[in-house]
Amino acid sequence: MSGFNIAIDGPAGAGKSTAAREIASRLALKYIDTGAMYRALTWKGIIKGIDFHQPQEIESLTLDTKITIEKGPGGSNLLYLDNVDVTAEIRDPAVNRNVSLVAKNPKVRETMVSQQQVIASNGGVVMDGRDIGTNVLPGAEFKFFITASLEERARRRYLELKEHGHDTTLEEVKKDINIRDKIDSERELAPLVAAEDAVLVDTTNLSAEEVVGKMVKHIKEHIQAGSI
Ligand code: DC
Repeated sequence: MSGFNIAIDGPAGAGKSTAAREIASRLALKYIDTGAMYRALTWKGIIKGIDFHQPQEIESLTLDTKITIEKGPGGSNLLYLDNVDVTAEIRDPAVNRNVSLVAKNPKVRETMVSQQQVIASNGGVVMDGRDIGTNVLPGAEFKFFITASLEERARRRYLELKEHGHDTTLEEVKKDINIRDKIDSERELAPLVAAEDAVLVDTTNLSAEEVVGKMVKHIKEHIQAGSI
């Protein structure tokens, strides 16, 4: 199956990437984690020691920067920044704290969005982020908006960070997610909002398997009905 695109948006920790990765693998599509692209630029800023409150310094991150995504283990994304694999580094708590400031910069968004549109131009892509259905791929054949309660999202992110050896507390993660949600939802440009034609999926009380099952069922029903 290819030719069509699937846009998956929602707040941090709602389960977008798990769902997107699994759907891509079941439908033989390419998975693209757009958050990872903003994270890679943020990592570059950390290495360069920029001041994240200075827009010009953030804009300079887009110059002479090459971001590439390749398929990794289990269908995950490997993220290369200027040909260096930074897949692990972009999950660092320091990136979590600054990435919303990078992602709200208009010049950064313009650059990232056009790269994302090129990646999806031939179809066959499952892309997750915040503005995919509304802004990057408004013509995507399928759009989903995935949510979960703040408590549940913080719990999932906390377990994920612990698993990767990061030293943090549940309260800290909850605070970070809350701040990030606020910046992402209230920014002027392409804020986090569900596309009018997106299917809403609340994952608070669902397992990953149930979420993916629901979404794949929706996709297959529409394909069989010939509505795409
Ligand atoms: O999904 P994530 O936590 O990896 O996203 C990291 C940050 O990037 C988050 O603050 C939201 C932002 N982002 C965005 O503004 N637009 C996207 N398409 C994807 C992520």
